Amino acid sequence: TQRTLVLLKPDTVRRHLVGEVIGRIERKAGWSIAAMDLRSLDQDTLEQHYGEHKGKPFYEPLVEFMASGPVVALVVEGERVIEGVRALAGPTDPIAAAPGSIRGDFGTIVRENLIHASDSEESAIRELKIFFPGLS
Ligand code: GTP
Ligand code: MG
Repeated sequence: TQRTLVLLKPDTVRRHLVGEVIGRIERKAGWSIAAMDLRSLDQDTLEQHYGEHKGKPFYEPLVEFMASGPVVALVVEGERVIEGVRALAGPTDPIAAAPGSIRGDFGTIVRENLIHASDSEESAIRELKIFFPGLS
């Protein structure tokens, strides 16, 4: 069974969509929440997390947005949960995301796309270490 890092981005918190998004994850049979909290992300954490995008034109605004308010950080575990949460989220650009997906239903612009979810087993291990270093 897998674990993935999920971040409900500041837009989700500001728009009071936390319950809606967590509800979709929770309703997926066989998945469960292993850890969760509301927290503000500092520059160092964001740089570690989004380091792969450093130097891209959207990097600075992305980090600024991610630091613009608290996020909800979760560890979700279950069968094929890495692929599964990405599927629930939909494509990065909400305009390309189908209705029924989180980004398709609530997304507006690409930067404010509600949710982050690890994109591979390798990313999940790396990101879980950044956000939940104490997790066994
Ligand atoms: P995350 O789960 O947040 O990592 O999203 P993702 O894996 O679907 O996308 P990716 O890792 O490629 O990009 C990280 C974040 O940067 C995205 O979620 C967007 O918020 C933002 N982003 C990615 N591509 C673009 C872009 O072309 N323009 C802008 N403005 N933002 C982008
Ligand atoms: Mg990504």
